[in-house]
Amino acid sequence: MQSRIVPANSEWIAEAGQMLRGGALVAFPTETVYGLGADATNGEAVARIFEAKGRPVFNPLIVHVLGLEQALIIGSLSALARRLTEAFWPGPLTLVASRTANTDISPLVSAGLPTVALRAPDHPVARELLAAAHRPLAAPSANRSGHVSATRAEHVAADIGGKAALILDGGSTMHGLESTVLSVIDDAPVLLRPGAITAEAIEDVIGGRLARREEAVGHLTSPGQLASHYAPNARLRLNAYDWQPDEAVLAFGPVAEKRAHAFINLSESGDLIEAAANLFAALRALDASGAASIAATPVPPTGLGEAINDRLRRAAAPRG
Ligand code: TXA
Ligand code: MG
Repeated sequence: MQSRIVPANSEWIAEAGQMLRGGALVAFPTETVYGLGADATNGEAVARIFEAKGRPVFNPLIVHVLGLEQALIIGSLSALARRLTEAFWPGPLTLVASRTANTDISPLVSAGLPTVALRAPDHPVARELLAAAHRPLAAPSANRSGHVSATRAEHVAADIGGKAALILDGGSTMHGLESTVLSVIDDAPVLLRPGAITAEAIEDVIGGRLARREEAVGHLTSPGQLASHYAPNARLRLNAYDWQPDEAVLAFGPVAEKRAHAFINLSESGDLIEAAANLFAALRALDASGAASIAATPVPPTGLGEAINDRLRRAAAPRG
């Protein structure tokens, strides 16, 4: 299937908004690069983004919002973070903040992290689409994994053609460079990815020097922040075919349930998209059950299974 490239007029944007609400993927222009968008509250739609990128790994995604009001429902923004939004939103500044307790953003968007990346794009098409979808939109750059970002609708079609239900053609993007990603979890912000807004411009607003990612490793509160993966407290045992009654079980596919401390099946029907959507919430729930060990039954290594296995291996790796 080839993705349909359509002009980004009001009729098509309204149609795209409907499609997003129905769980489809839509590629759209922002002022930086094209994004491949999904309803950020729909875990299965978000899982399809990772599948579409090819060679899938679960990197956390940016959630696109219309502005501060919508952002505050999703992330906890400090006074400093709010000042930054006043200075740079809408625009190419992405803020990484703690997720709020009640957010309905899928855990897969954050790759299991307690944080979320937020940005309000400054592009008329992106903004009209956000309004039409009536949802926050998770969207990575609309390119295949490892390729350069797409700055024209034709690049999107060439790279991930067929994966998006629709590609909204808004011409060439303005910056052609991704947004600047800034962690504002702590009082001292950290530059995680240089981008369209310069560090100097941010320093002017914060009135001091901005820490760079390399310098901040020791300061970040969670060791998972930079490696960006969620590590359970429980020991994780991979490719388990059997388990002890005091172990928690992370199952996949038609696994017969027998006595366990806790039991969650990622997808009884063996659907990798469903499994991906459930993965991080399941890991957290099993961890919270208090079991000392989680036994994970095998997940096939194909398609999204590659990313699921990658995360499971990381979560199982010994940590220092
Ligand atoms: O300009 C852009 O930012 C484009 C347009 C489409 O908005 N989007 C984009 O998304 O470049 P992506 O997925 O290609 O890059 C997202 C970046 C990655 O470097 C990712 O690690 C970081 O944001 N990120 C997202 N959530 C994070 C989190 N919770 N903690 C730390 N970093 C995060
Ligand atoms: Mg990218």
